[in-house]
Amino acid sequence: RGARALAPDLAGRRVLISAGGTREPVDPVRFLGNRSSGRQGWALARVAAARGADVTLVAANVEDPVPFGVRTLHVGTAEELRTAVLTEAATADVVVMAAAVADFRPADVAAAKLKKGSAGEPGSIGLERTTDVLAEIVAVRRAGREQADPVHTGQVLVGFAAETGDAEGDVLTHARAKLARKGVDVLVVNDVSGGQVFGRGDTSVTVLDAEGGEAALPPGRKDAVAAGIWDAVVPRLAAPS
Ligand code: CTP
Ligand code: CA
Repeated sequence: RGARALAPDLAGRRVLISAGGTREPVDPVRFLGNRSSGRQGWALARVAAARGADVTLVAANVEDPVPFGVRTLHVGTAEELRTAVLTEAATADVVVMAAAVADFRPADVAAAKLKKGSAGEPGSIGLERTTDVLAEIVAVRRAGREQADPVHTGQVLVGFAAETGDAEGDVLTHARAKLARKGVDVLVVNDVSGGQVFGRGDTSVTVLDAEGGEAALPPGRKDAVAAGIWDAVVPRLAAPS
């Protein structure tokens, strides 16, 4: 694997990766968050850089040291992540949305700390939807392609999905529907029935593509899985100009 992992098959490619999990403030000291560690996104950034890419990482609340040679922009909320991703996607050949972006945020953020026993003691937290960033970059790409913009014409968009099976279908059925709904080229699917993936070094994913392709990557360390994900993306890139 060593020699292949170092093949500079991403040389000259501008890669944008979002990683981590957004946090949506409730009051000045509290937030709604999620369990994403950011480690799969970190691994994708490390491997892409090792394979020659020019990598930008949009990192939501990840404390790990930033990967060597990777430009890293730190964000907190879904809205901050959205602004950074939209800006950086304008010049990216590949965008990988590995971040766990909040679907909802508190509709009203308290200006002062919520106190026990105060008049404003909350019985519940009202939520509103955040913007779907991936859907937005798919729409931006579509518009760019209509203008024959070269970046958008060649751009490859990769989503992540953590899914569980339920009465309506198994993990891959849900994932296939999500790939179509999102309009991405590639969807990396984690089976989280049982919650076993979060924060762990080992992972196992299935890579789905827009043409109906489905490849279960061998379970392994996140770096090995990242290499497998890049192997699925590289053939989709246009010949270097
Ligand atoms: N995503 C995003 N912006 C959001 C929510 C999700 O860009 N506000 C991206 C994630 O980074 C991921 C993909 O969309 O790459 C799929 O996320 P997921 O949570 O699985 O999909 P949702 O459309 O939010 O559906 P669900 O209701 O199952 O959470
Ligand atoms: Ca979601």
